[in-house]
Amino acid sequence: MATPIVDVRNLCKYYEHGESSTVALDGVTLQIEAGDFVAVAGPSGSGKSTFMHIIGLLDEPSSGQYFLEGQDVSSLSDDARADIRSRRLGFVFQSYNLLARTSALENVELPMLYAGIGSAERHRQALEELRVVGVEDVASHSSNQMSGGQQQRVAIARSLVNNPALVLADEPTGALDTKSSKEIMQIFTRLNEERGVTILVVTHEPSVAAYAKRVITFRDGRVIADGSHAKTEDLETVGL
Ligand SMILES: Nc1ncnc2c1ncn2[C@@H]1O[C@H](COP(=O)(O)OP(=O)(O)OP(=O)(O)O)[C@@H](O)[C@H]1O
Ligand SMILES: [Mg+2]
Repeated sequence: MATPIVDVRNLCKYYEHGESSTVALDGVTLQIEAGDFVAVAGPSGSGKSTFMHIIGLLDEPSSGQYFLEGQDVSSLSDDARADIRSRRLGFVFQSYNLLARTSALENVELPMLYAGIGSAERHRQALEELRVVGVEDVASHSSNQMSGGQQQRVAIARSLVNNPALVLADEPTGALDTKSSKEIMQIFTRLNEERGVTILVVTHEPSVAAYAKRVITFRDGRVIADGSHAKTEDLETVGL
């Protein structure tokens, strides 16, 4: 069998504050294969973002192991983690996180600039990705000249330009209306089906999770359900 993109074993995360401590992740073991489209669901405080931050190398586990594309990334230096993050991972955030006063095209070019790709190639590839997500017509617009849905499409284009092993999206539709949310989830679906992009989406909305091939449900820092379809009763159990 091929090496999984993500392989975590007994992942734990504790937050100490004074005398007490919070258990944010309590022994999470799972694998995500290339080509998977996974939704991480569960109620507020169940550990979804904590899990996502560790998988995205934005945070470290308190204990447990994490192999990314077969490489042990559990205890790397900050520089090494930043390097893997920029080369192998793509990020999409609820609040888009585009640079202000910077065009859509330049925002999408940015990861390639950091990767040392020349200007002509950056330009070509950024335009191509904007076309793929359907916003090439606003390439010269800055954030305040775009709708939320357009900004999120630009953010998706930006997440794709370095051909990441995994795209991580934390509540990507959290700030969008129903129609734009649908369009964003349809883009993720198409990228997964047609380009084989491996995607992990964190959401507490069952209607968003329903687009994924696999839904992993968290509660109290543990995986309580992991299946190819969200079972309505699992979601009801956790109050969704
Ligand atoms: N930096 C932190 N310091 C202390 N406790 C934290 C910190 N970050 C998260 N926690 C705690 O860890 C637990 C899991 O939080 P997390 O943010 O992962 O939940 P979540 O599932 O993403 O919730 P939401 O749906 O509200 O975004 C919660 O009890 C939270 O209060
Ligand atoms: Mg969260």
